[in-house]
Parts: sequence; C-alpha cells; structure tokens
Amino acid sequence: MKSIALCGFMGCGKTTISKSLEKLYSIPYIDTDKYIEENENMSISKMFEKSGEEYFRDKEYEAICTLCKNDDTILALGGGAVMFDRNVQALKNSGCKIVFIDTDFDVICERLKNDTSRPLLKHSDTKALYEKRLPIYNDVCDIKITCKNEDSDTIAQMIMEKIKKV
Ligand code: S3P
Repeated sequence: MKSIALCGFMGCGKTTISKSLEKLYSIPYIDTDKYIEENENMSISKMFEKSGEEYFRDKEYEAICTLCKNDDTILALGGGAVMFDRNVQALKNSGCKIVFIDTDFDVICERLKNDTSRPLLKHSDTKALYEKRLPIYNDVCDIKITCKNEDSDTIAQMIMEKIKKV
C-alpha cells in the first residue's frame, strides 16, 4: 500500500487518528514533528526560538522527503507542511495519498486553548491563519474527511473506506 499522509490545521486530530489507524489496521505511523524533534534533539518550540521558522521548514522538508519514500506508513504531518509546494510535490511524487482532516474551527479552538507547545499560536491570529490555510488543504488533498463528533477510531475507518476509492 502507498503511504497515507494526514494534513489539516493544528489540533484537528492528525496524531490521534494516526494512532487509531495504526491500532486498527496495523499500519505504523510516524509523526513528522516528533521525527524532527528526535533528529534535532530539540522541541519544535525551542527550534523556532533558537533557529527560526525557516530552519524548521527545511527540516520538515527533509523529513518529508525521507519518510514519504516508505510504503505502508501513516504520516502525521505538521499543520503547515502542505502550505509549501515542495512538500506537496514530494508527497505526490512518491504516490502518497493526502488526507485532509477537516475538523470544525470551534473544536480546534477548544483543543488548542491551553496549548503552549505550538510556536505559531503565540503570535498569530489563529482564525486568520485557519482561513488562509483552508483552501490549500482542500486543494492539495486526495480525500477530505469532514469530522463532526466521531471518535478517532471511527474517523480512521472513514479514511480507509474512502481511500479504497481513490
Ligand atoms: C505548525 C504545526 C505544528 C508544527 C509546527 C508548525 C503549523 O504541528 O509542525 O508548530 O505551521 O501549523 P501540528 O499541526 O501537529 O500542531
């Protein structure tokens, strides 16, 4: 099976849903942010602070280029990954299917309200960032999963049902 990459805004549920996909379908998942943190031996937040966003984006691109070569993997991407054409091209060229996890903005806000680990939440207008990114998630994805109140296992099943058809 070609790999599946989950994209969507911070807090949309990419990591939790990846864990459900791993559990239910025995497909291992890799969180690109975690992979970068382990390689750099530093949190994303510290990386932004010490070396800037551009440095992180380069590491993100390198991680995606390496990881998308694997088949049979779920990739949980960072929320900004598909904003960069080079990442989208790398994913598409490797045959990865891109899944947009479309979660209501209100739900996202509730999940992120006490978050201190995401550097972009510190200085940006979250709503404006969400609105700017939404058309891009819609544009790059092979499938979109609109999430209401389903649990992550149900969403994982919805993904596997839909992915068979693309
Ligand atoms: C980012 C989202 C984060 C992380 C970094 C930048 C973004 O990942 O990659 O802080 O640009 O939206 P999550 O979507 O997993 O929070």
